[in-house]
Amino acid sequence: MIERTLSIIKPHAVKKNIIGKIFTRIEHIGFKIIGSKMIRLSQTQAIGFYIEHKEKLFFQNIIQSITLGPVMIFVLEKENAIQHFRDLIGATNPEHALPGTIRADYANNMTENAIHGSDSTMSAIREIDYFFQESEIFPHCY
Ligand code: PPS
Repeated sequence: MIERTLSIIKPHAVKKNIIGKIFTRIEHIGFKIIGSKMIRLSQTQAIGFYIEHKEKLFFQNIIQSITLGPVMIFVLEKENAIQHFRDLIGATNPEHALPGTIRADYANNMTENAIHGSDSTMSAIREIDYFFQESEIFPHCY
């Protein structure tokens, strides 16, 4: 089934100047980038995005880290996009990320783990809707 997922290249990775390298990997295995924007998240936007983690001890770390600088946010489309993208980016903890995954190569730690990917169908729908209007998404023609 063709699915959409949401991804965010985090501030530390934007600062490292590796947006192009990450996009190349994503496109190379067949994802279509169907929406994209670079923004700096406000505190309010960040808290709303990560609201499901608000009780976690590391919540303040996530908010501080994601608001440090601009992020690249994009919508991807592919067959089984949500799981395929999670496989491509690797485990949240870069120490557990498999060799060849984006996080294995570019993450610094659990918070600065280079890139976010939606973890379920419900999350993908909520997250895409959080940042994009339908008019900002350009579905690929198959
Ligand atoms: S969890 O615990 O399973 O809900 O975590 P997960 O869904 O894998 O991660 C959610 C985001 O929280 C960040 N994270 C952490 N930051 C700091 N310290 C610790 N221990 C930690 N664990 C998770 C992680 O970067 C995840 O961000 P996203 O943007 O979802 O990758």
